[in-house]
Amino acid sequence: MKITEYISPLRENIEKARELGKTIILIPTMGYLHSGHLSMIGVARADDEDHEKYYIVMSIFVNPIQFGPNEDYEKYPRNMINDIKLAEEAGVDIVFAPEVEEMYPDGQNLTTVKVSGITEDLCGASRPVHFEGVTTVVAKLFNIVRPDVAYFGQKDYQQFMVIKQMARDLNIPVKLIAVPTIREKDGLALSSRNLYLSETERKQAPELYQALQEGKKIILGGEKNVEKIKEIITHRIQKKTNAKIEYLEIRRAENLAPLGTINNTVVIAVAARFGKTRLIDNILVEV
Ligand code: PAJ
Repeated sequence: MKITEYISPLRENIEKARELGKTIILIPTMGYLHSGHLSMIGVARADDEDHEKYYIVMSIFVNPIQFGPNEDYEKYPRNMINDIKLAEEAGVDIVFAPEVEEMYPDGQNLTTVKVSGITEDLCGASRPVHFEGVTTVVAKLFNIVRPDVAYFGQKDYQQFMVIKQMARDLNIPVKLIAVPTIREKDGLALSSRNLYLSETERKQAPELYQALQEGKKIILGGEKNVEKIKEIITHRIQKKTNAKIEYLEIRRAENLAPLGTINNTVVIAVAARFGKTRLIDNILVEV
């Protein structure tokens, strides 16, 4: 496995692989890798253990511009040595781990990519600069790597939808794939931020997923009234945890549009604060 901090050798290696006829796959991350990140590599590598068909590029970059001024950019967990070991074991071909200066050499980015509409609520409501930072860095990564395929997690459902919208609107020729959320045994979605949870918070956190599952059960049982379902899920989280719910929404899975009556596949999405730690999760319900 190769590792580089710089765009130019990264591009040289990718072009060599492209000339050999390999499919270029990009997996963008902020590092501190866990099984959720590794499952994307596993899915990408699945039918090519001999590294003959696919060239897998994993980026590891804690992107400062997607963090708000009072968010956790400084204390976001980092462990490059361990990340490199895990990436290599999982079958990555090259890790791109740039310093901030390599990605934003002018000290700031005067050009940004902003998707409107679906970035404005759910996570966008409490994190106003977040998605613009995500789409800007992902657009840069797409231009640097020029991947045929890019993998993202369903865990960040809105992020995936926003990136899909960006690729469509900007005619970026990349196939986007979302992989299912990987969870702890007790249901808590893996996240680098789980590390911030206190012992009590960690014990309560799986309740988010339990509540989402209860919502799914109610929908599959035939309940169609969105407000009613939201109330039941919200009440359950409030009863069983000390978390402060930021949002609990049921939206059309296809485009995140609000709906009053369940008549299509939906996503139930939640964001909640356990103390200072903000966790998100979601579940798809096919109707
Ligand atoms: P990060 O939080 O490191 O996540 C990298 C990718 O891993 C994202 O596509 C995310 O959805 C996926 N992922 C995270 N937890 C997961 C889990 N439990 N199961 C499956 N997939 C999971 O998301 C980002 O970084 C950044 O915003 C990024 C896209 C890299 C842009 O900076």
